[in-house]
Amino acid sequence: MSKTSVSRLARELKQFLAAQQEDDLIVAAAPKAAAMVSSAKTEEKQAPQVLFQQPVETQTTSKIAHSGDTLTIEFRRPASVHSAPILQEDSSMMTKSQKETALKELAEKIKNCSRCPLGSTRLNAVPGEGNVNADLMFVGEGPGFDEDRQGRPFVGRAGQLLDKMIVAMGLTREQVYIANIAKCHPMIDPSNPDKHGNDRAPNADEIACCRKYLEEQISIICPKYIVALGGVSAKALIADAKSLGALRGKFYDLHLDQVTLPRKVQILATFHPAALLRNPGWKKDAWLDLQMVMDKLGLKGARK
Ligand code: URA
Repeated sequence: MSKTSVSRLARELKQFLAAQQEDDLIVAAAPKAAAMVSSAKTEEKQAPQVLFQQPVETQTTSKIAHSGDTLTIEFRRPASVHSAPILQEDSSMMTKSQKETALKELAEKIKNCSRCPLGSTRLNAVPGEGNVNADLMFVGEGPGFDEDRQGRPFVGRAGQLLDKMIVAMGLTREQVYIANIAKCHPMIDPSNPDKHGNDRAPNADEIACCRKYLEEQISIICPKYIVALGGVSAKALIADAKSLGALRGKFYDLHLDQVTLPRKVQILATFHPAALLRNPGWKKDAWLDLQMVMDKLGLKGARK
């Protein structure tokens, strides 16, 4: 192979690798790049052998060298990605599979959590579920009776209404991410988890204990918009003690305590579906709130 062909190939590979910003893409780039090499139309019959070096932590630039028929490619793995922390400084760097892995690890931590007394009375922890790449995330206050049994968020009556609200927006439950401020069922009478109507809002200590889990979730998923369902969620996320009525109808930039978000995430507060079941007259206002989000997301039916 001529020196010019090798240089051209090296240039193409360098461009290809430069386009891969993330660690697992770089690793996955090995067979892809090898395939590129083997399928490349070179002037000679035999393609050079490609060696992929292990990422070198201290390197600052990609390096490509060739000697004889061997093309050696070294590349830098960003330190922040290498250690694969759950608290990402730049979670927009995460791929879908990295997000899935990080959320699975986080869910395990939540399932084993006993940071507050709810950990010893829950039947199941409820970490959250949905599309890890969702543009829209809903955050409720905490699991109730049904969620405690199934380990899934919003699966009871309030959840059925939330599903309808999501569909009315032109989305499906599978397209969004659903989580709660508290990950375990707050009960009025913790000695009786089988009692219906035993739900209560999480208290300040429980919210504080769970906060890091929600912040980690938000930083991993990094949605564009969050809808805070109800006053507890709105106050905790907007960090404002005003009433839900005063917080509604306006987008706020989200600021987290433990994580710097890599891109702007905005939050809008609306009524909790359970409150809408009790007060159907509020549905009209909730729909106005949801239409504001639809407008931002470019969904049909939004009020301009
Ligand atoms: N209410 C909530 O706030 N969250 C749930 O998951 C269910 C009901």
